Amino acid sequence: MNQNPYSFSEGKVDKMKLVFNLLAWILFLLEHVASGVGSDEVSVFVMEGDSVIFHTGVETSQQEDIKWYFSGTRIAQINGALSYICTDVKCNKGTERFRDRLKLDNQTGSLTIMNIRNTNSGLYELKIIRSSSGSDKIFNVTVNGVPAVEHDEVKRNEGEAVTLDSGEIRKPNDVMTWFFNDALIAQITGDPHKTCTDVQCNTGTERFRDRLKVNQTGSLTIKETRTTDAGLYKLQIIISSSSFSITREKRFSVTVFAVSDSGLSSAAAAGIVVVVLLAAAALIAGSIYCRHRRYTRAPQNDNDVNRGIALRDTEHP
Ligand SMILES: *[C@@H]1O[C@H](CO)[C@@H](O)[C@H](O)[C@H]1NC(C)=O
Ligand SMILES: *[C@@H]1O[C@H](CO)[C@@H](O)[C@H](O)[C@H]1NC(C)=O
Ligand SMILES: *[C@@H]1O[C@H](CO)[C@@H](O)[C@H](O)[C@H]1NC(C)=O
Repeated sequence: MNQNPYSFSEGKVDKMKLVFNLLAWILFLLEHVASGVGSDEVSVFVMEGDSVIFHTGVETSQQEDIKWYFSGTRIAQINGALSYICTDVKCNKGTERFRDRLKLDNQTGSLTIMNIRNTNSGLYELKIIRSSSGSDKIFNVTVNGVPAVEHDEVKRNEGEAVTLDSGEIRKPNDVMTWFFNDALIAQITGDPHKTCTDVQCNTGTERFRDRLKVNQTGSLTIKETRTTDAGLYKLQIIISSSSFSITREKRFSVTVFAVSDSGLSSAAAAGIVVVVLLAAAALIAGSIYCRHRRYTRAPQNDNDVNRGIALRDTEHP
């Protein structure tokens, strides 16, 4: 028993270190081989300003740990017990570029990137640990630099029609929804029977009754515009696939000029009124004059009386 207990202990620690290192390597390899070989790659094309959701296809109630990486850096994480959820700088200090633009669904682990930017193009990796249903995925995101959030300005005279062009080639599953000052006024879905306008969509939009038309490209036409149609129109486009969905918004500011503001139109209208009034006055004056003449030519002799009676008789047979 003259062996130094510490030397025995040191040897044990070294062995344990080795085992731990081996385990870490095995876990690391498992994680990376699984994601590298078995994962689907999904190409995603978005416009700057879009919001995009990457779906995991799992429920965290199944006790998965879900991690999201961008270019190899962890940007979001949730564990199955929901005891730990983080996004961007709360997970990792190197993720300033995403600050406050990431959202993690605490039921599915799906990741949302809001208001996506040009610099967010790249590979997003989903790693699901202890997964039974979901599989790892890579989302290859390409952000198109032209911002989709436009603010088109459209001006019309009252009574004219206006068409707000969606500027999109609508795919069958895309859902396009039009809002006027935040009230839903039209919706186009994959099912033509579910396409609706004004009061069919929303009972609060009586003002447009029967004056809205949408076509299958998602463009909106307002017929016979009124000054009360002026305001902000917003088109929301939701592009969905099984593994992601993109939300895009376009805005149009519509101005409607009252027709009485237009000198030519009001002058023309006044002219018509004057002509009609003159014509009416002429008719009335003419008929009064005729009657007056008839009765002022009072009978001066029997012949005239007879003529007068005869005249009246013909007038009231
Ligand atoms: C999950 O998210 C919802 C909505 O964001 C929130 O109300 C709920 O408290 C969250 N649950 C947990 C366990 O964090
Ligand atoms: C990602 O997509 C871009 C554009 O389609 C392509 O050029 C690139 O090779 C893809 N990257 C990977 C790793 O697949
Ligand atoms: C839908 O409206 C747009 C914009 O006015 C037009 O360019 C397009 O041809 C229309 N498409 C159909 C199918 O009517």
